[in-house]
Amino acid sequence: MSTAAATAWRVAPGGTVTGSFTVPGDKSISHRALMLGAIAQGETHIRGFLDGEDCLATARALAALGVRIERPAPTEVRVHGVGAGALRAASGPLDMGNAGTAMRLMMGLLAPQTFDATLIGDASLMRRPMERVAQPLRAMGARVDTHDGRPPVLIHGTPGMRGIEYTLPVASAQVKSALLLAGLAASGRTVLREPAPSRDHTERMLRAFGVQLEQRSGVISLEGGQALRATALEVPADFSSAAFFLVAAALAAEQPLRLTNIGVNPTRTGLLELLCLMGADIRVLPRGSTTLHNAEPVADIEVKAGPLRGITVPERLVPLAIDELPVFFIAAACASGETLVRGAAELRVKESDRLAAMAAGLAVLGVEHRLLPDGLWIRGTARFAGGRVDSRGDHRIAMAFAVAALRARAPIEILDVANVATSFPGFEECARQAGLGLAALG
Ligand code: S3P
Repeated sequence: MSTAAATAWRVAPGGTVTGSFTVPGDKSISHRALMLGAIAQGETHIRGFLDGEDCLATARALAALGVRIERPAPTEVRVHGVGAGALRAASGPLDMGNAGTAMRLMMGLLAPQTFDATLIGDASLMRRPMERVAQPLRAMGARVDTHDGRPPVLIHGTPGMRGIEYTLPVASAQVKSALLLAGLAASGRTVLREPAPSRDHTERMLRAFGVQLEQRSGVISLEGGQALRATALEVPADFSSAAFFLVAAALAAEQPLRLTNIGVNPTRTGLLELLCLMGADIRVLPRGSTTLHNAEPVADIEVKAGPLRGITVPERLVPLAIDELPVFFIAAACASGETLVRGAAELRVKESDRLAAMAAGLAVLGVEHRLLPDGLWIRGTARFAGGRVDSRGDHRIAMAFAVAALRARAPIEILDVANVATSFPGFEECARQAGLGLAALG
């Protein structure tokens, strides 16, 4: 049966996990590789590409804008870059599916073009806030309309935008990246201040495409008008996908579980620090960097089960673990004592309201918790109940509760799981291979 076809899962309670395997390519890096390849001069070759729905939405949008994209293999892509300013108008709205990253970065890419464009998405994406990108783009001279702050986003192409000095109100790599893309096509300098570090894949990759960019104590700046030179990129395995197995192993790997070739860019690995603070048994075995060209550090990560204790999460780690917090909450539910996460209000505007979705699922399992405006308080327990949990169509909520089954007394049924294909095609097979008793329903 095709993995994308499942609409629900039934995950057997208990069990152990082990093995040595990798996970699919990094989603954030795959989106960026396509977009930068599209506006570079020459042919960019991407290996390790994430063949998931989100990145395919980006590829389709770029193709609609006149970029030739070849896929000699599912994880290999050739982007025939058209150079800055040579994209052409699409014949209809660009559908970004479930992908917030794709929509926000495309806003930065499209604002300085000579033509208009409309961005739409699925029901989840149509509810997500877009003014965080639209406002600073307008300050650069762009003409962008949202609908009550949400998609559809109408972009009236405006060549001749100006560089900006801007302090981001939230630590958001999507906003930062959109403004860097717009800044590349603008006149003058774009200077961005981050309130806290967020993932820096765009900065690293722009350098790989030959762009001069400065990064100093939370300030990123670049001069507009620089041309990108096509390059070869290797995408590491996605730490955010590995995260489900890191937690699964911390809970139930009697023999070590090893994840290979995982991207360990320090702006992504907050979960490793959190699990170590909880007392987890983790070894990171560096492998160097992916090709010299995009300099993303890579490692094998080995994890063994052991007792976990609850922690108060340092707020500085929240942006560095933002996508891993759903599965971290599962670790907290299995730890001894209390865990508190604050400063994570951003979780409310992800693919779902992840604080509410996790709280609702923990309630089904009988885990004591309190939902806070910007976080969760959880009291861990050795075992919890099973039951039926609604993922709310959110891939990371679905996978987090699959991991929870390792500590349940009865099966956990997880509804609305099709969107797992956005970030982790093949999750079901990987999970079964690791030892989870996951069966697809529907
Ligand atoms: C991403 C940035 C983060 C993250 C998202 C991917 C990116 O979002 O949650 O899954 O690739 O830039 P924010 O920029 O909204 O924090």
